[in-house]
Formats: sequence, structure tokens, C-alpha cells
Amino acid sequence: MSSAETLGAAALVGRSDLSRAVDETAVCAQSVDLGADLFEITFVAPELARLAEPGQFAQIEVDPGRVPLLRRPFSFSRADREQGTVSFYFGIVGEGTRRMAGFKPGHRAQILGPLGRGFTLPHSRGRSLLISGGLGAAPFPLLAERLSERQEEVVWLNGSRTERELYPDHLIPPGTSRRVQFTQDGSAGRVGLVTDGLVDWLDTSQRIYACGPNPMLNAVHSLWASRSELPRPELEVSIEAPMGCGFGTCLGCAIPLLDPGHPGGDGPLGLCCRQGPVLAASALDWERLLRQPSHLE
Ligand SMILES: Cc1cc2nc3c(=O)[nH]c(=O)nc-3n(C[C@H](O)[C@H](O)[C@H](O)COP(=O)(O)OP(=O)(O)OC[C@H]3O[C@@H](n4cnc5c(N)ncnc54)[C@H](O)[C@@H]3O)c2cc1C
Ligand code: FES
Repeated sequence: MSSAETLGAAALVGRSDLSRAVDETAVCAQSVDLGADLFEITFVAPELARLAEPGQFAQIEVDPGRVPLLRRPFSFSRADREQGTVSFYFGIVGEGTRRMAGFKPGHRAQILGPLGRGFTLPHSRGRSLLISGGLGAAPFPLLAERLSERQEEVVWLNGSRTERELYPDHLIPPGTSRRVQFTQDGSAGRVGLVTDGLVDWLDTSQRIYACGPNPMLNAVHSLWASRSELPRPELEVSIEAPMGCGFGTCLGCAIPLLDPGHPGGDGPLGLCCRQGPVLAASALDWERLLRQPSHLE
């Protein structure tokens, strides 16, 4: 067995990390239809609201029966500790999300979380650049809020294919210093890809947080890596992988990592639900990651 395979097996096997999570009976407080099959749903779930950190996710029971059997993973979009509520921003892509879109106030659902590794929050003040594509906006309201609580200057580049799919401006937390919209068809904000805006901010940001489809994240990483001036801003990305359990048991959410000891060779596989979903962009093997499916558009 090659060393990469040995490392891969070692990285894949992990203990379930449920010690920080709760399985709470959450009650739907409201569900807002934002158009274009996009929704923001809010649950009363005081324990989850207390524990959730930006970038972490929850496994939501979309049906108490057997179809679909597995819970579905969603990033915490908001967590209001005072109100005891958590919110999720999602789009309908299949049966589970279609059922979730039908939740009415009063609906009860088991929600397991918080799970996974979230974004690293800074210890010193500076400028944080948030860059989202489509549904990749989901974890950023909570991140923007927690960053501005730390007096961080928050700039959010918010992109999508078209205006109807943009994360709504009025939902962006008020502490966000600057927001810039991009649409590929030019129906709102600046015309083009959200990554076009990155060059304007790359040199003056201390941290970059990105979430969106894998090709977009790869473009962010490439631009960042091509910056010759060192040190580069820290770059963290929130990525997706198909998930079963959400806590390190089913091994279904493998993601390709680089092996610093063997540059050029295939590195180990990690678990998105344990080592991610937020990772340092430099830890990922982007070439192999791009061969995996992604639908966060
Ligand atoms: C950590 C994490 C956080 C997420 N956060 C959000 C969020 O905040 N908002 C949001 O809208 N979505 C989010 N997603 C994606 C969301 O979980 C899926 O859209 C949902 O599970 C689809 O369920 P479904 O039953 O509607 O569709 P399904 O019928 O299960 O799937 C529909 C199609 O999407 C594909 N698919 C489903 N899940 C994934 C995946 N994770 N990666 C790649 N392809 C997939 C399937 O292969 C299929 O082609 C997140 C995923 C992960 C892993
Ligand atoms: S190991 Fe089951 S989803 Fe990650």
C-alpha cells in the first residue's frame, strides 16, 4: 500500500464528534418565501442558538416518516441567542428541500447540531472580505454579525447568476460595512462573476471567507495563490460534500486534501463533516475536488 493510501485511510477514520452537539426539537417560527425557490426558515431552538458558531451546520429532519430517510445538512444562517432562534437560507433542489419549504409555523423538526468546523474568527481588528456565490451566502449573515461584534470591517461581495437568485440585500446584517452585488446577466449590481471583484479587495483585506460552487471557490483560491506579495490574507472556504450522518461515522463525505509531505501526489481524504465544512483553502486538493459534484449555485 502506498503512503498516500495509508494516510488516506488514517484521515478517513475518525471518531464521531457528537460531544458538542444537541438533538433539539425545534419549532418552526416562520418561513419566508424569497422567490426563485429560495427560502429563509426560522426555528425556535434555544440550545442550538446558544451553541452555533458561524460556518457550522445542522442536520435537519425533513420528514418524521421514512422519506427521505436521512436528515439534510444546512449551514446556520443566523443564531439569535436572545430570541433563542436559528435560521437557515436554502433553495429547493430535491425532495428534502421541497418538504422543508412546506414547513408551516408550529411544525416540529428534530435538528442535530452544531456540527463541523466553522470559520476562524480574528483576534485582531482588520478587514474581512466575504465572497459568496448563489446559495453560498447561507452562512454569511451569522459570520458578518459575529465579525462586526468584534469591530471588524466587513465587506461582502454577493454574487449570483441573476437578480432573483441574489441573497437579498435587506437580510444582510446592518453591521456589514460594505456590500457589493454581482450578477452574471447584469440584472443587478455589477455585471460579471463575483470573483471579478476580488482583485479590488485582495491587497487590503486581512482575511477572506468564501462560500459557493466549487468552481467559484477554485477561482478565488487561484487568484489568492497568484498574489506575489506575502503574507497573503488568510483564506478559508466553506465546501460541500454529499452527507449521510454529518458526524464522522458513514464516511460518505470524503474530500481530497493535499499531502504536504508528498507535493504532486494524491494526498489523503478528509471528512467534510469533521475537518470541514470550513477549511483553509491551501489544505485542499482543488484538482480532485473539482471532479466532485457541487450544486451550490
Ligand atoms: C455542510 C453543508 C451545508 C449546507 N448548507 C446549505 C445551506 O445553507 N443552504 C442550502 O440551500 N443548501 C445547503 N447545503 C446543501 C443541502 O444540504 C442540499 O441541497 C440538500 O441536502 C438537498 O436535499 P434534497 O433532498 O432536496 O435533494 P436531493 O434529492 O438529496 O439531491 C438533489 C440533487 O442535489 C445533489 N446533492 C444533494 N446534496 C448535495 C451535496 N451536499 N453536495 C453535492 N450534491 C448534492 C444530489 O446528488 C442530487 O443531484 C449544504 C450541504 C452541506 C454538506
Ligand atoms: S462521515 Fe457521515 S457525513 Fe461525514
